[in-house]
Amino acid sequence: MATLQPTPPPLDDDGTVGGLGILPWTAITLVGVYAGLRFGIPWLAVLVGVSANPAPVPKFAMAIYMLCAGLGALVYVSSEDTRWRAFLTPIVQAFVVPHGGGRARRLLPLAIIPLLVAWITWGQVMPSTQSPPEGRIQHPGLPEQFAKLENPFGVLKGPERNAIEREGVILYQKNCRPCHGTKGTGDGPLARGLRLQPVDFTDPGTIATVVEQYPFWRIQKGGIGLPNVATPWNSAMPAWEDEIEPDAIWRIIMAEHGIAGTEPRKPEGSER
Ligand code: HEC
Repeated sequence: MATLQPTPPPLDDDGTVGGLGILPWTAITLVGVYAGLRFGIPWLAVLVGVSANPAPVPKFAMAIYMLCAGLGALVYVSSEDTRWRAFLTPIVQAFVVPHGGGRARRLLPLAIIPLLVAWITWGQVMPSTQSPPEGRIQHPGLPEQFAKLENPFGVLKGPERNAIEREGVILYQKNCRPCHGTKGTGDGPLARGLRLQPVDFTDPGTIATVVEQYPFWRIQKGGIGLPNVATPWNSAMPAWEDEIEPDAIWRIIMAEHGIAGTEPRKPEGSER
């Protein structure tokens, strides 16, 4: 019988592993698993080059992994009598204190539990300004009628180009800054109130990855012009077609790239 058992853990006579109780060990292991999922995997994705930014593990996946880890830990601690008792003893001791003393010690866990519940509830009901990481495609396909457009100022160079960009900057600061920020980093004064955050134009994953017709479409048609794949979260990006003339939109796009220090992607086959 004993030979069929996996190698027993180095459990000392007093039910500890290396002097530390099995309960703290379990807690440390679970915290380790959580930290690995929360920080390890996102940064691993950056390290191996799968993604340019840390990609958070979706919440539901975290919940499933943590549930598995918790169940695994429970199976482990309860699979052997000594271990199970060593695990339960400190819990029981925390609540059941012999008469005539230890009142404070008994009250402590009773205070911690409601505080923990309050903290979790607080976290759930507080509105957050972070965009949900899952389920949204930032760059759905560019509609065909926009792909054919041409930037009338695209050919300009030198001072003429600078003049157009300057006009664009004024339009940008007037209309777009409240959400997209003075420097295009997506942190304008209005942005904090939005569930889906304005994109950071200086991030190489946003306007620098698309041809310049793309922001033209997004600026004219806004959040409501997005196809369903991109809108599990409503976008506050306004549709500007009634407010801003096409020429002015091109000026803003050139200014946007100037402000963010990026270049639009060159259309396929245009590289020399
Ligand atoms: C009320 C806030 C708000 C204002 C004002 C606003 N935007 Fe946006 N914008 C957003 C939000 C939120 C997003 C991200 C969601 C999305 O893609 O629709 C966004 C996305 C964009 C995108 C898409 C970028 C990408 O890489 O997918 C472009 C381009 C853009 N905005 C340009 C502009 C310009 C130009 C103006 C000014 C004329 C402007 N926005 C004004 C909120 C705003």
